[in-house]
Amino acid sequence: MWTKDEWFPIIQSRMTEKRYVHTLGVAETAMELAKIYGEDVQKAEIAGLLHDICKYADKAWMADQIKAHHLDATLLDFHHELWHGPVGSVVARDEFGVEDEDIRNAIHYHTSGRAGMSKLEKIIYVADMIEPNRNYPKVEKLRDLAHKDLELAMRYGVRHTLQHLIKQKQTVYPDSLFCYNACWT
Ligand SMILES: [Fe+2]
Ligand SMILES: [Fe+2]
Repeated sequence: MWTKDEWFPIIQSRMTEKRYVHTLGVAETAMELAKIYGEDVQKAEIAGLLHDICKYADKAWMADQIKAHHLDATLLDFHHELWHGPVGSVVARDEFGVEDEDIRNAIHYHTSGRAGMSKLEKIIYVADMIEPNRNYPKVEKLRDLAHKDLELAMRYGVRHTLQHLIKQKQTVYPDSLFCYNACWT
């Protein structure tokens, strides 16, 4: 059962203070966007609060979880940064009792994105990029877009993410490419 008072200290204990502040920022921003775009505000809050629950989980443990829960095994060939979303969606269900598939998908795909994202998935993806503690060139432009047009914000958000990965000479997980193609067609 959803009791915030119990969740906050648990979430806080799993991450750095900076990440906890980010987490609260994502939850607040996701609620704001949910109000604008007619999404369930409480679902947005739950997804925001839990999206980075596995950000600092042990890498070997996450690799085991990916195998044990039959998550996409090719994740293991990509940067471990991509693992905390899918594993977080399992932890949300098993430790926090979140059964709602849309909330779990929003946690699962918040880093990679994917084709055919739901409104809640888009809200969390974008909120993660624009919450008040985020600071990078163009964040203001994305914040502005996010409050006017969620589709357009996704379009620019995913392009920004892909450009960043390519600039850093990192590989691109296929779901991110599918997300990009879905946003730009
Ligand atoms: Fe994350
Ligand atoms: Fe995040």
